[in-house]
Order: sequence, then C-alpha cells, then structure tokens
Amino acid sequence: MSRLRVGCVGTGFIAGQHLAALAGFPDVDIVAVADAARDRAEDVAQRYQARAYDDGLRMLETEELDAVWVCVPPFAHGPVEDAAIDRRLPLFVEKPLAMDLPTAAQLAARIRDTGLLTCVGYHWRSLDVVEQAARLLRDTPAQLVTGAWLDRTPAAPWWSQRSSSGGQLVEQTTHLVDLARLLVGEVDRVQALEATVAREAWPAADVPTASAVLLSFRSGAIGTISSSCVLDRRRQVGLRLVAPGRLVDISEVGLYDHTLRIADDSGEQVVQTDENPIAREDRAFLDALRTGGDVPVTYEDALRTHAVVCAADRSARDGGIPLQVDGFLAEQTPSPGEAPK
Ligand SMILES: NC(=O)c1ccc[n+]([C@@H]2O[C@H](COP(=O)([O-])OP(=O)(O)OC[C@H]3O[C@@H](n4cnc5c(N)ncnc54)[C@H](O)[C@@H]3O)[C@@H](O)[C@H]2O)c1
Repeated sequence: MSRLRVGCVGTGFIAGQHLAALAGFPDVDIVAVADAARDRAEDVAQRYQARAYDDGLRMLETEELDAVWVCVPPFAHGPVEDAAIDRRLPLFVEKPLAMDLPTAAQLAARIRDTGLLTCVGYHWRSLDVVEQAARLLRDTPAQLVTGAWLDRTPAAPWWSQRSSSGGQLVEQTTHLVDLARLLVGEVDRVQALEATVAREAWPAADVPTASAVLLSFRSGAIGTISSSCVLDRRRQVGLRLVAPGRLVDISEVGLYDHTLRIADDSGEQVVQTDENPIAREDRAFLDALRTGGDVPVTYEDALRTHAVVCAADRSARDGGIPLQVDGFLAEQTPSPGEAPK
C-alpha cells in the first residue's frame, strides 16, 4: 500500500492527539509540522522525524503532501486553509472553523467550488455511543434537548480573549451544538444571553463567564444549552435528550472518556467508553482520501454548526435578539472576491 505524506499546522495540545494517532497508522508518514512557536515545532518534529517550520504557509509551499491537519487556535484560521485549497490539498480542520462566520463561510464556498475532501474535528461524531444514541433517537425523536458545558477557564493564552478564541460558545460549546444537530436535526432559530463577571485570577479575560442559549429545531424540538467557565475544573459537559418514553444522556469527562445513559421502561443502561474518537476520525478521513468514502463531518456540514454558534454569540452580544440561522449565515457570507467583514 502506498504511504500517505501528511503535515500538521499547529503543534499544541490537539495536534499532539492527532499526531499520536497518525503515527500509529501503518500507511502514514508525518513529514512536516509547523507552529508559530518554532521551538514547539522543532520538539514535535524531532519526535516524529519530520521537518519543522515556523510558518504553515512555507510548509505548504515546500513540502509535497497528500493531506494537511490544521490545528491552530480560532483566530489563526484562514490563510493556511486558503493555501491548501489553492493546492487542492485535502484538509482536516480542527473545530471551530474560525473565530467568526465570514472567514468560515468564504472558505466553505471555495471548498464547495473545488470539491476538495475535508473533515472537521467534531470528534463526538466518531463515538460508538453517539451512533447508538442516534439509532435510538431515529425511532423516537427527541422533543427537548438540554445541554451544559460547565468547566474551568482553559490555560491556553489565547482562550480567555474573545478576539482570539471567539468565547466559550464558539470554542467549546460548539461540540454540543454539533451533537444536537446530529441527534435532533437542523437548528432554525436561536436566542442567547451572556454574563461577563470580572475575575481576579483572570484580569485580562474578556470572554463571557456564562451564557444560555435557546434553540428551536426544524423538527419542532426545542432546547437550551448553558455554558460557564468559572469552575475549578470540568464538572459537567454533555447533552440530555428527552424523547417519548426515553431519556438519553451523553457526557464527556475528557477526550477519551464518554458515557451514554439510556433510561426507558426497560430500565437504565449505562455505557462508559474509553474509545479514541480522534484516531477514528483521522482514520475515516484517510480512508476517504484513499477510497473516496464518507467522512464523519465535512467542512460544509460543520459550517452549519458554526453558523448556529455564531448566531447565538451575536444574539447574546445584542442582548438576546432572536435570529434565524439561515438568514444570519446568508448575511455573514461574503460575496465572491469580497474580504470577510
Ligand atoms: N476536538 C477537540 O475536542 C479539541 C480539543 C482541544 C482543542 N481543540 C481545538 O484545536 C484548536 C487548537 O487548540 P489547542 O488546545 O491545540 O491549542 P494550543 O494552544 O495547545 O495549540 C495551538 C498551537 O497553534 C500555534 N499557532 C497559533 N497560531 C498559529 C499559526 N498562525 N500558524 C501555526 N501555528 C500557530 C500555537 O503556537 C500553539 O502551539 C482550537 O481551535 C481548539 O478549539 C479541539
């Protein structure tokens, strides 16, 4: 079997998870990595006998790759994807697609035009327990969704600044919105509120410390998702779905620690799993590259999730105005040739 030559832009936490998974595949060579922090790129490159770059664009200009993983913080999306699209280089992009919607909508349009293979790191979609929940909810559709991301403030230097991360809704809670879309269907309308309380331990932070989102789904289902980042550690991350006669609860303690609970008239079933969704999504993307098969979530699909969180973020910034997701996405999509607003 021919070997696939891959590169990765960003060599922080999540890149480390992808690179560890990729290094375990017998048909993959990690040939190059890039990070704005050169020492980090060099450390990681040494681990995988790859070449190090301090600039992802230069890595793409120099290396002959079969695919690239883009694992940069929200504010840094755009230029690397554009360069990969120019070269028709298949793209794995970590969520969120960008800090804002126009950047992602413009990239999505280019990806659509070129028919490029993409995959996005909404890893919950690569869990058996999520597939099991999806099968159950196809038989008895959910009518109510309640979700929560109740956590600490991540230590990454870019996270606590809204102009770098987009805030908790855009950066973290997006996983729950994506899961809700998978399990309940498209979101039509959102409305949100946020609170930002000053904290001594985070003097420069300006991300909202709490938010509450109301969702209305095309199916007629409704939902709420609450987020906060003021706890000492992660206390609750998950989604509950209420369907006729059945309660389904999916939660995440860490990337490799998920639990599915199903309660119905046959009793309560609890499935705890340490499956590796990062390796699964990476393998699915590589298999699609080889065979043209499906990936768990394309850029186009992820754009819908990103549109929902960005609409919720806008609603919250504007004091809770209701927004139609389709209308917001159309308004935020730059015309061809126009720079993202
Ligand atoms: N799927 C998941 O569950 C999951 C988990 C963690 C992080 N993420 C996502 O992955 C992204 C990165 O998060 P992280 O935790 O790895 O952050 P991190 O801070 O650990 O790593 C980000 C790295 O990107 C580098 N970087 C910044 N700008 C760059 C640029 N223009 N070019 C090249 N490198 C650049 C930084 O120097 C840093 O090393 C975030 O968007 C985050 O939401 C996803």
